[in-house]
Amino acid sequence: DRSIKIAPSILSADFADFGAEIRAVEAQGADWVHVDVMDGHFVPNLTFGPPAVAAFRPHVKTVMDVHLMIAPVDPWIEAFARAGADVITAHVEAGPHIHRTLQAIRAAGCKAGVALNPGTPASAVAHLLDVADLVLAMTVNPGFGGQSFIEGQLDKIAELRAMIGDRPIHLQVDGGVTPVTAPLVAAAGADVLVAGSAVFKGGSAARPEPYGENIRAI
Ligand code: DX5
Ligand code: ZN
Repeated sequence: DRSIKIAPSILSADFADFGAEIRAVEAQGADWVHVDVMDGHFVPNLTFGPPAVAAFRPHVKTVMDVHLMIAPVDPWIEAFARAGADVITAHVEAGPHIHRTLQAIRAAGCKAGVALNPGTPASAVAHLLDVADLVLAMTVNPGFGGQSFIEGQLDKIAELRAMIGDRPIHLQVDGGVTPVTAPLVAAAGADVLVAGSAVFKGGSAARPEPYGENIRAI
């Protein structure tokens, strides 16, 4: 299904109220919920571990999309699968055995995603397409919400779309997605758009209508 899906990143939600934020953003039209896991080592920030992700699970009625910005990643796959992830995405830069990592994610019962940092060429996933359900092109250097979209990544998104061809693989974009940049990434071939600050700005779980307006604007 190549229709455009919006995956709000709860990195920009109220950290004291994740359950309510997830329910609010889904009620306002989110297609997936994107969970950014950071380890203070692969990226210079810390967020959530498996117990937090397990606590999000009952609130997510759509797809819980877990983006692991951690290294090493293999020791944690089982735990995030048990926490209820539907999709687990690992970075191609996070270790020497990304092919085995993707196989392990599928063996754990999840859809397998492979992410590329802005500095990594599209060719890094050329030999992974048989073991991947999703390719994630980062359009910021991962670690923080609210950074600006790196325009030079558009060529890579188009290149990845051409590589994927007719395979049933989602092409996801994450970082700096706004109503201005969303049409560019969609035109380049992305079908799952992650957006954090651009979705959560202006609203709250108690007053969620701006979330819906923001999602529709994207
Ligand atoms: C970046 C994360 C993103 C981030 C996106 O490290 O992977 O998911 O939260 O935030 P915005 O949409 O604000 O760039
Ligand atoms: Zn992310």
